[in-house]
Amino acid sequence: MQPHYEFAGFMGKRVHLGVTGSIAAYKALDLARALQRADCMVSATLTKAAARFVTPLSFEALGASPVYTDMFDEAPGADTAFGHLEPGQAADALLIAPASANTMAKLAFGLADDMLSCQALAFAGPRIVAPAMNPRMWAAPATRRNWDMLGELGYIRVTPDDGSVACGDTGTGRLAPQEEILVATLKALAPQDMAGKRVLVTLGPTREPWDAVRFWSNPSSGTMGACVAMAAYLRGADVTVVAGPTSLVFPCGVTVTPVTTALQMFEACTDLWPDMDMACLTAAVADYRPVPFGDTKFKKATSAGAGITVQFETNPDILKTLGGSKREGQKLIGFAAETDNIRGEAARKLESKNLDLIAANNISRQGSGFGVATNEMYVMDAKGRKEQWPQLPKTEVAWRLWDHLLLD
Ligand code: CTP
Repeated sequence: MQPHYEFAGFMGKRVHLGVTGSIAAYKALDLARALQRADCMVSATLTKAAARFVTPLSFEALGASPVYTDMFDEAPGADTAFGHLEPGQAADALLIAPASANTMAKLAFGLADDMLSCQALAFAGPRIVAPAMNPRMWAAPATRRNWDMLGELGYIRVTPDDGSVACGDTGTGRLAPQEEILVATLKALAPQDMAGKRVLVTLGPTREPWDAVRFWSNPSSGTMGACVAMAAYLRGADVTVVAGPTSLVFPCGVTVTPVTTALQMFEACTDLWPDMDMACLTAAVADYRPVPFGDTKFKKATSAGAGITVQFETNPDILKTLGGSKREGQKLIGFAAETDNIRGEAARKLESKNLDLIAANNISRQGSGFGVATNEMYVMDAKGRKEQWPQLPKTEVAWRLWDHLLLD
């Protein structure tokens, strides 16, 4: 899983995982582990059919507790007499993954003829459903209707993926990727204190071509910005990412505008900014772009071994431009990557770019900056608050940045 999905700190939150009869049932074991890595407690119910594919013991061995099976079987550590009501009292979210066509139908019509369907009916909190089935079953009119009904009943629905399924058919019906299901669940557990906010995030490097095959760039992976975007998304914001070239994958709910050069990033951001409430610019934008040698490949024979001289032009400062056109109510966060005088440079950039908050780090320190999953930030805001944060996972840094910006 890419690092921007590795949010932790959902301490004390309990997710009840319902597993139904599908060949994808084994993937529920990975889901349980991913939820535990986010610090969630996990309990589970396996339908009779699910227990033919994976065993309750596997979930118990991973630390899920209690693990229910049949209505009248004893679940270790559980009050079996009221097991059908227990997740409704103890869990903060109910996640049914994979959900078979049969279970979907039961949920849609409110049937309660086994442990999981009773638990779902008695569950008043957020319910997430991630189906998996044969593409023809998924396309069947009855399933389409049940899917719509689940939406009307307030289920958070994670649409299955396209591709080939176990029986050899191809189409829609594969269980959605683990990341999509995890994000939908964590979002249901997270405070929605950024709901309705439109947030712009830039991330990654830019590439500045100097001939048809070569470019000038930097080693930014985009991870910090991806964590910032995900934290806002989990907290309910409407997130648009303007991304330089990276290998990052985002959940369907995040809008991604891919760009390559600083000028393209500038255009995308200046177009989007007037409609945004907040922006956080983390991209490692090239301050200069080479004056290209032409549209074709530069040949070494051209220089006759005498070396080459590349000329550069200045790229626009995107952050400064957004800061300069900031309207009342808009909030802007900038980053600063430094090797010296971090606090001085942070103060200078906060002021000169008209920011509300700046997060500066020493990129020459181990565990901070490019290509690592942690960062050690010095944070300063326009109200004069200054904080030195310890080395933290980038997910945690991202969460704290939004906390800090929402302070008033
Ligand atoms: N930034 C930007 N457009 C640029 C350069 C930087 O939007 N052309 C943004 C970065 O995304 C970051 C912040 O400005 O949020 C600071 O970037 P940094 O490279 O640290 O600073 P510079 O302004 O380029 O200044 P310097 O070269 O003096 O460090």
